[in-house]
Amino acid sequence: MADDLSSKENAGHLWMEGRTLVHLRGDQERPTHMPRGPAKRTGPGFLNPAMAPARTRSVLLLADALEHDWLVKPGHDLRALDALCATGVRVRRWRNEIPAAHQSRLRITANDLDKSALEWLKSTHTRSPPVVAVNHALEDDRYERLPSGTMHDGIFIMQNDARIALMEAAYQWVDLDPFGSPVNFLDAAVQGLSRVAFLEVTATDTAALTGSSPSSQQRRYGAKGIVDSYAHDDAVRVLLGLIATTAARHDRCVEPVLALFDGHHVRVSVKVRRSRDGASDVLASMGWRVRDENGTYRFVRHPDSNQIERASGPMWIGPLWDRTIAARLTKDRAVDLCFPDEERLEHHRTMGLEWSDDDSEYAKRELRRSVRYIADAADLMSRDHTLYHMDDLPNMAGTGQAPKMEALFEEIQTAGYSAARMPDVDPFLVTDAPHEDVMQCIRKLCQD
Ligand SMILES: C[S@@+](CC[C@H](N)C(=O)[O-])C[C@H]1O[C@@H](n2cnc3c(N)ncnc32)[C@H](O)[C@@H]1O
Repeated sequence: MADDLSSKENAGHLWMEGRTLVHLRGDQERPTHMPRGPAKRTGPGFLNPAMAPARTRSVLLLADALEHDWLVKPGHDLRALDALCATGVRVRRWRNEIPAAHQSRLRITANDLDKSALEWLKSTHTRSPPVVAVNHALEDDRYERLPSGTMHDGIFIMQNDARIALMEAAYQWVDLDPFGSPVNFLDAAVQGLSRVAFLEVTATDTAALTGSSPSSQQRRYGAKGIVDSYAHDDAVRVLLGLIATTAARHDRCVEPVLALFDGHHVRVSVKVRRSRDGASDVLASMGWRVRDENGTYRFVRHPDSNQIERASGPMWIGPLWDRTIAARLTKDRAVDLCFPDEERLEHHRTMGLEWSDDDSEYAKRELRRSVRYIADAADLMSRDHTLYHMDDLPNMAGTGQAPKMEALFEEIQTAGYSAARMPDVDPFLVTDAPHEDVMQCIRKLCQD
């Protein structure tokens, strides 16, 4: 390790997430490239490597908003806040990995209540500053009272309760990544958004969201669940439903851009617009999932007394993604944007990063995995579709075995419909084919 990293004060080691150098505490093990599930330890200074794919998608979406001008007008600044930033890996990745051409338009604020996490952010960021130096001034006319923060190499850092930070100024991009449920922060987040904005929310309380913890689900989300093959999709839709109804209470409407169940957490990303009419229409996208006798389901606005036993909700029943934006989240884009060039990698190595060619291969694989299946499923996930868990198909079709997924996609497409794999930890088919046609395709393949 280089001298300046080997002093006692700087004890610890270096890791690279995306193309950003991350300083880990000495007692955190070197992360593996494909971590699954929550980190074994959490607390100030600990990086949760299992969240790296979500942070990668955040970089991709923010870069996309700036490149395609879907949030602010061309040339205008975009104010982004990570309200619960911990050691600031996400904000540092925004500053390091969004293309240089857009950096001067990006005003980044990082907030957390934990002083030592923020100290960790400051020291890491100062030690490994971004290649493109951006030092925007604090726009003091936008604050009700001046926040007590400081600027560090293009990141304004403040230590506040997130609910205060969110309400103090209008941000166009807000990230909410709490431990557990985001419900306590949602009102403040929505109220603090600018007229047109983007909100990304993480929830790790999957037991509540899926309904495997029914009392928590009822208390936090006002919903009732059924723990079956659709529990993951229910979790995503229950969280979206709460965000949509919270937004509506503040005269705002939402348009989902991306919504995923990613193993141990749910992550949803929505555009939020101030619009009384749009807010009034939100109920049209709220409803229940009723299980049908054939093993699938349909969405209804209100289940009747015969359906309620087989129904989960209330939840968002509208489209889950934005077709155009999601289609641009490709594997090539993830690697182009988030993997360093040789010069940068060499620079990181001179800073003390121990990184082999194998590490590079694994890291690229992990970047591709962050967006796997998204572009291919973008169209179907943005309109009406039906999901099928691959393990349910043999029973449904009475075939005793499931066909290969790729073969089934092809068969459904040959029959004139769309089919893709939905990104989830489990294998899900997403299609617009009528149920009987799907069954016929399966039977045909299982006969061949
Ligand atoms: C899951 S971590 C955030 C991880 C971070 N976004 C990332 O990508 O690395 C949650 C953080 O919320 C902070 N926190 C909890 N309650 C808070 C509050 N009321 N206001 C501000 N920060 C809070 C904790 O200190 C912790 O750092």
